[in-house]
Amino acid sequence: MARLRLRGVTKRFGKTLAVDDLTLDVVEGEFVTLLGPSGCGKTTTLRIVAGFLEADAGEVLFDDQRVTYLPPNRRDTAMVFQSYALFPHMTVFGNVSFGLRMRHRPRREIQARVEEVLMLVGLWEYRDRHPRQLSGGQQQRVAVARPEVTRPNILLFDEPLS
Ligand SMILES: Nc1ncnc2c1ncn2[C@@H]1O[C@H](COP(=O)(O)OP(=O)(O)O)[C@@H](O)[C@H]1O
Ligand SMILES: [Mg+2]
Repeated sequence: MARLRLRGVTKRFGKTLAVDDLTLDVVEGEFVTLLGPSGCGKTTTLRIVAGFLEADAGEVLFDDQRVTYLPPNRRDTAMVFQSYALFPHMTVFGNVSFGLRMRHRPRREIQARVEEVLMLVGLWEYRDRHPRQLSGGQQQRVAVARPEVTRPNILLFDEPLS
C-alpha cells in the first residue's frame, strides 16, 4: 500500500502548465526528492499534496484513501516552506509548539516534545528568542523543527535546506 499516490495530477495557471499528468507512488519510510529546474512544478506539486492547491485533474490518495478535495487541516501532512514562514510575533518555543497547541495536546506533552525536537536541532537555548533575533541558519532549523513535533504521516520539504 502506498502512503502517497498521485494519479495523473495536472495543474494549470492560465496558459502555464505547471504540473503535467504526474503519477507517483511513495511508500512508508521512503524519502523522495523532486529534482528539476526552477519553474518545473515542484512547489505546485507539494502544495497539491498538502491541500493548499486543488489539482485541475487527477487524484491524490493517502493510504489508498482519496484526499483530492480534503482541506489541509484534515490531511496528516506538514510542510516546511522555502521562505520558512515563521510566525514573527512568536518565540522559537511558540513557533515549534504551534502544531501541538492547535491540536490541544496536554501541556506536559507539549513541553516534552518541543524540548526533544529543539535539542535535536540544537536550539533549546534559543527557545525564548523571536525569529528576528536569530541567524538565517537558526531560523531555518526552527522551520525544520516545527512540523516534526506533530509526527505527520507525510512531511513535505520545499527546499528548506537550499
Ligand atoms: N499562483 C500562481 N499563479 C500563476 N502561476 C503560477 C503560480 N504558482 C506557480 N506558477 C507557475 O507555475 C510554474 C511552476 O511553478 P512552481 O511549482 O513554483 O515551480 P518550482 O517550485 O519547480 O520552481 C511556474 O511557471 C510558475 O511561474
Ligand atoms: Mg519551488
